[in-house]
Amino acid sequence: MSHRENSLRIIEQKRDGHELSESQIDRLISEFVSGDLHDYQMSAFAMAIYFRGMSAEETAYLTSAMLRSGQTLQWSDNTNIVSKHSTGGVGDKVSLILVPLLAACGLLVPKLSGRGLGITGGTLDKLESIPGFRTDLSTQEIRNAIESVGCCITGTTADIAPADQKLYALRDSSGTVPSIPLITSSILSKKLAENPSKLLLDVKYGSGAFMRTADQAQTLAVSLVDTGQRLGVPTDCVITDMNQPLGRTVGNLIEIQEAIESLEGGGEPRLMTIVKQLAFDLLQMADCQLTDTYIASKITNAIESGAALQKLHEMIEHQQGRLSGVKPSSQRLELTADRAGYINAISPHEIGWAVIELGGGRQNKTQAIDHSVGCEILKTVGDPIQSGESWLRVFLSNDAQRNERALKHLRTAINLGDSPPSLTPVILEDRRSHSS
Ligand code: URA
Repeated sequence: MSHRENSLRIIEQKRDGHELSESQIDRLISEFVSGDLHDYQMSAFAMAIYFRGMSAEETAYLTSAMLRSGQTLQWSDNTNIVSKHSTGGVGDKVSLILVPLLAACGLLVPKLSGRGLGITGGTLDKLESIPGFRTDLSTQEIRNAIESVGCCITGTTADIAPADQKLYALRDSSGTVPSIPLITSSILSKKLAENPSKLLLDVKYGSGAFMRTADQAQTLAVSLVDTGQRLGVPTDCVITDMNQPLGRTVGNLIEIQEAIESLEGGGEPRLMTIVKQLAFDLLQMADCQLTDTYIASKITNAIESGAALQKLHEMIEHQQGRLSGVKPSSQRLELTADRAGYINAISPHEIGWAVIELGGGRQNKTQAIDHSVGCEILKTVGDPIQSGESWLRVFLSNDAQRNERALKHLRTAINLGDSPPSLTPVILEDRRSHSS
């Protein structure tokens, strides 16, 4: 049997629902990366996985093959190196606050982040609203940042998990993104390339997230945790609510400003609940001898003393960002309630779309981002509101048509009722509480 027929046979086996071996999966991934396996064959393989699924073993083999398709960050000692990943949400600026907070607590965080995907914003896009901020650190520069600052947030380099970079592009255009084994291997092949000693995942569910229901999020969380553990990295996850935007702002520059304000002590409660829980979990994972009280006071001190804020400024400076003088759009508009009542819902989906329409997110991969636009939410779900009272401030673009399209989404984003809604907790499940 020829080389090519062998690869075809492996694709057919998955198509017919058989379980693949580690060497079969390794072979397909290495042939794909070298160009010996055609894109149309890999798309067919992705579709076979989409319909047939993968066992936990196969998912781990696929993740490992994708991880080994590229480089991993090398540390002389990775004991204090930790990693965090969010599956993404609207207004999710947790990393911008958490990464310097963890560094202020003594952990080392070389965070490789991504760009916006669909309606969910990307940490790199947000950071690039700081003039000069570099998101293209080389592996040596990442090591330098860890040595001198203790943290950095930068983009995935071309030599990190190249199999994922190639495969994700195919999945995006072949309808095979929403597959648990493919999402798991995609996320973890990049995260494990940071070579962390511990990994914590924030899996979001709701209308502003990739996973629409809590059940879907739980399935993904189980797959991510299981695969991380199989590949030898203690991995845990938190499942959090994304049925309303996280924090007070959605955009790019305004989210950076909110992250700074949060570390100055003015953090929005739901946002800070997640930040503190993730910080708590990672500190506990890194050193299981620490008591809960000690960890909680360490986090509070790092915020209240200004140490975490100082770390954020150090990180921005080290990555050559200059914050002074940068301002969001001065063209602003406030949206008001058309009747009195209680805010029953604020749709992250509509707000996410509005920010894309304003130019704060991408409708295609090559589109430039307008960092100055966005939305500031002036009320939260559950608040009473009077007729004519403002609930949203929009930071408009210079393009009237874009603004009009955004406003169409925003006018439907609020839902008013006659009585207060029942509120859902921002953290649905913290799997640390089961495992510790
Ligand atoms: N994020 C990723 O990095 N990969 C996926 O497949 C989905 C979300």
